[in-house]
Amino acid sequence: MNLPHHTFRIGGDMEIRRLGFGAMRITGPGIWGAPTDRAEAIRVLRRLPELGVNFIDTADSYGPGVSEELIREALHPYGADMLVATRAGLARTGPNQWIPQGRPEYLLQQAHGSLQRLGVEQIGLWQLHRIDPVVPRDEQFGAVRELIDTGVVRHAGLSEVSVADIKAASKHFKVATVQNRFNLGDRSSEDVLDYCTAHGIGFIPWYPLAAGELTRGGSLLDTIARRHQASVGQIALAWLLQRSPVILPIPGT
Ligand SMILES: NC(=O)c1ccc[n+]([C@@H]2O[C@H](COP(=O)([O-])OP(=O)(O)OC[C@H]3O[C@@H](n4cnc5c(N)ncnc54)[C@H](OP(=O)(O)O)[C@@H]3O)[C@@H](O)[C@H]2O)c1
Repeated sequence: MNLPHHTFRIGGDMEIRRLGFGAMRITGPGIWGAPTDRAEAIRVLRRLPELGVNFIDTADSYGPGVSEELIREALHPYGADMLVATRAGLARTGPNQWIPQGRPEYLLQQAHGSLQRLGVEQIGLWQLHRIDPVVPRDEQFGAVRELIDTGVVRHAGLSEVSVADIKAASKHFKVATVQNRFNLGDRSSEDVLDYCTAHGIGFIPWYPLAAGELTRGGSLLDTIARRHQASVGQIALAWLLQRSPVILPIPGT
């Protein structure tokens, strides 16, 4: 059954169902190296299309490279309606270490690497993982423009940005999505969400379950969940889905 706003068209033309999967945690601890149970990670990924999920979020830095390679191993060749979105802009120096790296040549190199790791000719959605504070942001946005112009990526987006950043980036390319931290307990990006809603930009709330904190028992959410005969996690996701038709949650496991 297709409910109202059951789907969203990224960039106006790539239709996805509005509950995706975040593939950050299918790597080793600290989002570093291979997963402890590789076969289980592959099983989790293969289950996604069976559940109707056709939007997977990953990044070059998850592993690094490990998440993208597992997605390819599990799901390539992808179904016609499957969108695997990826990102670059954070370099890795060890477990749990993330360093913004926005030099244009680095962004271009990483996007080309993602093409190979994912086994695609074009990345349907590619997002700048962070705006590097030590590189002029227009240079970083220019690199994104180049990725679109050369056909490496179809649609592009941003992550952890302000409304002012979105406006500045929009002078270089059409911002298709914005990925900011947002959940029931952290609404610091409400202004960004409202801007995205008004402009038809997909808003991808990362940390939708606060990594399990929102799914623990003993809160007011318990009462609401019981009333709806749902789990607390389902209520946290339902709250996001109803907040705006442009919200595209990507809970992980
Ligand atoms: N743009 C960015 O800067 C950025 C940053 C971080 C993440 N992301 C993206 O956002 C996605 C989601 O982020 P996230 O993984 O941090 O957030 P999340 O989806 O809120 O948290 C996932 C974690 O929550 C736990 N969890 C889920 N349901 C649970 C339940 N019912 N009870 C207990 N624990 C539960 C899972 O534990 P189990 O492993 O035990 O299932 C998993 O480790 C990532 O995969 C990534 O693609 C983007």
